[in-house]
Amino acid sequence: MNPHLQLTDLAVRYPCPEGEVCVINRLSLQLERGEIGCLLGASGCGKTTILRAIAGFEPLHSGQIQLDGRLLSTPQQSVAPEKRNVGMMFQDYALFPHLSVAGNVAFGLKALGRQARQQRVLEMLELVGLADLAKRYPHELSGGQQQRVALARALAPSPELLLLDEPFSNLDVDTRERLAFEVRDILKQAGLTAILVTHNQAEAFAIADRIGVMQQGNVVQWDSPYQLYNHPANDFVADFIRREALLDQRASALARGEV
Ligand SMILES: Nc1ncnc2c1ncn2[C@@H]1O[C@H](COP(=O)(O)OP(=O)(O)OP(=O)(O)O)[C@@H](O)[C@H]1O
Ligand SMILES: [Mg+2]
Repeated sequence: MNPHLQLTDLAVRYPCPEGEVCVINRLSLQLERGEIGCLLGASGCGKTTILRAIAGFEPLHSGQIQLDGRLLSTPQQSVAPEKRNVGMMFQDYALFPHLSVAGNVAFGLKALGRQARQQRVLEMLELVGLADLAKRYPHELSGGQQQRVALARALAPSPELLLLDEPFSNLDVDTRERLAFEVRDILKQAGLTAILVTHNQAEAFAIADRIGVMQQGNVVQWDSPYQLYNHPANDFVADFIRREALLDQRASALARGEV
């Protein structure tokens, strides 16, 4: 059986004064249905670009993207973003300020009749634990609550694939960790295939079935958290994992007043 999502030899280039610069270079990865993948890497290494390519906002220089056996992108052809059935929650997850929580979640459900739409909104708000806040407006919510509304909005149209670009970036460390575990439960309950981007290793290990460690436009290792931790493919991955683990230890030691 084919993987649910398959990226093969992907290359994406951006125009620059010297001509073109290759931002993603011969990148391949795949996810089975219901799996959560996580892209981990330094700022500027190409994480958002990959999500934009999957969503259909960046043309491919070479390679292809397939979802459920359907060809979405090649350099010659590209299915329009709105026809891909891919849900997105991007770095700036901005909610519509003039719409209530329920209104925000209902936004992508215009094709449904009134009753079906209300039913779906309620289901989604229950899923993210916000059913009692349906009538509030975004400015009346905490950052974590707003992020959960954004997640409910992305989940509501039942996308085939969900893309999450640093969904917890605006939150404090404790809320991030709690939400990371919550989001994993929510995605697993919905049986969704998803790719999440983060800078944060703890978050990746909390959420992902597969993690891709990125270095300058490529995934240097695409593996389970266990394999990545215990069998890093090369020195770059080993250093990357060890450095963050050391920082975590230092943070814990600081918190205990030992440093
Ligand atoms: N529209 C564009 N035109 C030209 N270069 C771009 C464009 N968008 C992004 N880039 C460049 O491509 C590279 C990858 O950018 P991308 O946004 O994918 O990185 P990222 O890994 O998501 O970074 P961050 O963690 O900071 O969000 C960067 O060097 C960036 O400057
Ligand atoms: Mg980014």
